[in-house]
Amino acid sequence: MALRISPLSFPSQKCVCAPPASSVARSHRGIFMASTLHTSAKTENTGKPFSPPREVHVQVTHSMPPQKIEIFKSLEGWAENNILTLLKPVEKNWQPQDFLPDPSSEGFQEEVKELRERAKEIPDDYFVCLVGDMVTEEALPTYQTMLNTLDGVRDETGASLTSWAIWTRAWTAEENRHGDLLNKYLYLSGRVDMRQIEKTIQYLIGSGMDPRTENSPYLGFIYTSFQERATFISHGNTARQAKEHGDLKLAQICGTIAADEKRHETAYTKIAEKLFEIDPDGTVLAFADMMRKKISMPAHLMYDGRDDNLFEHFSAVAQRLGVYTARDYADILEFLVGRWNVESITGLSGEGKKAQDFVCTLAPRIRRLEERAQARAKQGPAIPFSWIYDRKVQL
Ligand SMILES: [Fe+2]
Ligand SMILES: [Fe+2]
Repeated sequence: MALRISPLSFPSQKCVCAPPASSVARSHRGIFMASTLHTSAKTENTGKPFSPPREVHVQVTHSMPPQKIEIFKSLEGWAENNILTLLKPVEKNWQPQDFLPDPSSEGFQEEVKELRERAKEIPDDYFVCLVGDMVTEEALPTYQTMLNTLDGVRDETGASLTSWAIWTRAWTAEENRHGDLLNKYLYLSGRVDMRQIEKTIQYLIGSGMDPRTENSPYLGFIYTSFQERATFISHGNTARQAKEHGDLKLAQICGTIAADEKRHETAYTKIAEKLFEIDPDGTVLAFADMMRKKISMPAHLMYDGRDDNLFEHFSAVAQRLGVYTARDYADILEFLVGRWNVESITGLSGEGKKAQDFVCTLAPRIRRLEERAQARAKQGPAIPFSWIYDRKVQL
């Protein structure tokens, strides 16, 4: 999973992500910390030995009525036959090494040299996007944690044999190859400041994420459906652009990751489809709830120790390059509305009908807002990114 949405395009979500520069505080032990908008909670001397660089303060928990947990228990067999079948056996899966120079081969150095020659032709703004995507993938521990917050489907033991738990672990294992491959490619490319990137990953995993899924698998599977499609689109675009820059091997890397994301999207949208079938009212309410809150991106708490608005800056570059844009956000929403046939659901409650209307008319409204924002938008400034040794990239 991955991704972001341009802060230029939407009225920004209340709370969470971006702290104003003034909210950055130096703790008594000299650890640089940036709080969320709830700055009053943190002062110069918190008395805490360590705090995450980004803190999320308002969080709703366990909003799904407990009796609905039974729905997920009853779907165990269905998940085994319909979801676990979407996993590939490990022996048939690709591995990062399939796309990288083999360090045990005689030709290793020559292959690395060729990789670096190709990377030289690629502009800095592309690398900012690729690093942001890699950092997002590398925060995978957070996403497995997120799935295991969901009531009724969590892995209760760490090695549970329920279908839901088997899926979550195998999904994580497949996803783990994404960050691994991009990380090794970027390391070999010689184009990026690996230490700054590694710090960003450490900060991000330390901060976590706030998808606002409230321990509810209804909200959780809407969120993952959206996110897997978002990452499919984003990695697909970095593949296309790598090809345009003449790097077919990098295009193959990004395209291969995109194909995994597509398969994961199929799984999560299938789960949500089943929930629409069993509980249309509850599922359409969950869909509308997630869209009202806006889908926050998994790496929204990103920080590199320097730039307090790193995520917004990275998102702005991705938007300008067309790697992931506000239009993609609207397109994903529209795709999901169609995928789940939301317009033709009948027999809904009054609230359910309102939710149905909301999600079915939202995409055009987002696009209109986006067009107006684009018309008003001036060219962004060029700002330094620590990931590329403080070279400046236009937002
Ligand atoms: Fe994914
Ligand atoms: Fe991924």
